[in-house]
Amino acid sequence: MEIEVRELREEDIPELGRIEAASFSMPWSVEAFRELLSRPYCTYLVALLDGCVAGCCGYTDLCHEANIDNVVVAPEYRGRGIAQVLLQKLIERGNAAGVEAYTLEVRVSNRTAIHIYEKFGFRSEGIRPKFYEKPVEDAMIMWKR
Ligand SMILES: CC(C)(COP(=O)(O)OP(=O)(O)OC[C@H]1O[C@@H](n2cnc3c(N)ncnc32)[C@H](O)[C@@H]1OP(=O)(O)O)[C@@H](O)C(=O)NCCC(=O)NCCS
Repeated sequence: MEIEVRELREEDIPELGRIEAASFSMPWSVEAFRELLSRPYCTYLVALLDGCVAGCCGYTDLCHEANIDNVVVAPEYRGRGIAQVLLQKLIERGNAAGVEAYTLEVRVSNRTAIHIYEKFGFRSEGIRPKFYEKPVEDAMIMWKR
């Protein structure tokens, strides 16, 4: 099993749309992914497992604070460490680009994602009540400083 991580490309987007739809109740559209390609302050990485698109993650850089979003791995490829490889590479990119702090929101019930973020040094700094829809749920706001 070989995991390759590289920047998002146009050709990845249809498969990422499928992964999103299989993973989130309010998935990003393929158009939303296409817009990222033209935004210089957004960094998006894709993981390929034996050449197949397996997941992605990215951040928006706002004055050296990176807002991470859309950490996702295709259901069939989960539990193989792909999200952690993606996050490792994303944070390396951010550090090299001068990012000083990282933040993200996560559903309070998402134990798997919270476990991963805590492994990377993220800590909860608050709750955003009823932030999510479908179903309505609080968001935990996490920071890595
Ligand atoms: C969250 C997600 C990206 C993780 O991807 P993944 O590639 O399967 O993650 P990894 O294999 O790198 O790591 C999974 C870790 O969670 C742990 N884990 C699995 N189930 C768990 C649970 N119920 N509670 C706590 N930890 C759990 C695993 O043991 C592993 O940690 P370890 O390496 O310390 O043993 C994936 O489940 C996903 O796409 N979910 C739907 C989208 C989503 O929720 N994204 C996050 C939005 S903030």
